[in-house]
Amino acid sequence: MPEQLVIRELSKRFGGVVALNAIDLLVEAGELVGLIGPNGSGKTTLLNIVSGYYDADGGTIDYDGKPVAGLSPHRLARIGIGRSFQITKVFRRLTVLENMLVSGLSDWSESRAAATERAMEVLADLNLTRLAHERAGNLSGGQAKLLEFARIMMLQPKIVLLDEPFGGVHPELKRFMYERIREWNANGVTIILISHDMGSIFGLCRRVVTLSYGDIICDGTPDETRANPAVLEAYLGDRHDAA
Ligand SMILES: Nc1ncnc2c1ncn2[C@@H]1O[C@H](COP(=O)(O)OP(=O)(O)OP(=O)(O)O)[C@@H](O)[C@H]1O
Ligand SMILES: [Mg+2]
Repeated sequence: MPEQLVIRELSKRFGGVVALNAIDLLVEAGELVGLIGPNGSGKTTLLNIVSGYYDADGGTIDYDGKPVAGLSPHRLARIGIGRSFQITKVFRRLTVLENMLVSGLSDWSESRAAATERAMEVLADLNLTRLAHERAGNLSGGQAKLLEFARIMMLQPKIVLLDEPFGGVHPELKRFMYERIREWNANGVTIILISHDMGSIFGLCRRVVTLSYGDIICDGTPDETRANPAVLEAYLGDRHDAA
């Protein structure tokens, strides 16, 4: 099947820590998959590898029938795999619009005028039009997060990997982002969403994958996930460790 993401036996170690323990995961085109698990369970590591920021120690990743493990983030973005960072990354000294063009112009066939027009459409979709000429460094945390969303959408991705998009975000903005995620998915974008916000995950995702110590311990519907004793145990264990 085209545009599937097929992960096989993916492993990553950091010194003595097994961040990913030979995991297998298949994501179909058009899915919206939630990725949950206690702190340190390997969620960000998985996204970092799929998006080309880390190399795996073992295993394979195929996208659209082709191996993609080890490709640079830039190459991956061009074939349609976009991501957002757990810690918001924008170019603070550039304006919002300039930030959009930095990513948008990675498609060399597009003129600057066409890219600018497209950028302004994406900014309008995210209510950022009035900030187009503001320096990104002057944005609030929430606005910077929206800009990051905007930059991902500028790349017209087929798969979006979102790492904690709701972290530290005002409830109203959270609802807005939530609706945008739902809308992108309805328009055919495949989404993998990491969040500790269970309400959002269970509300948005029909499929939820749970990691614990680098293993997938549950892969099911929100109801199946909530009812799974291993998931509960993973989270209670986490709380116990933190106490
Ligand atoms: N760059 C790194 N160097 C060393 N260890 C790392 C690195 N990145 C992750 N780890 C370790 O790998 C494990 C998995 O971390 P990861 O960041 O993937 O977890 P996570 O599920 O995203 O957690 P959180 O919910 O806190 O964001 C942890 O033990 C973490 O300390
Ligand atoms: Mg993380």
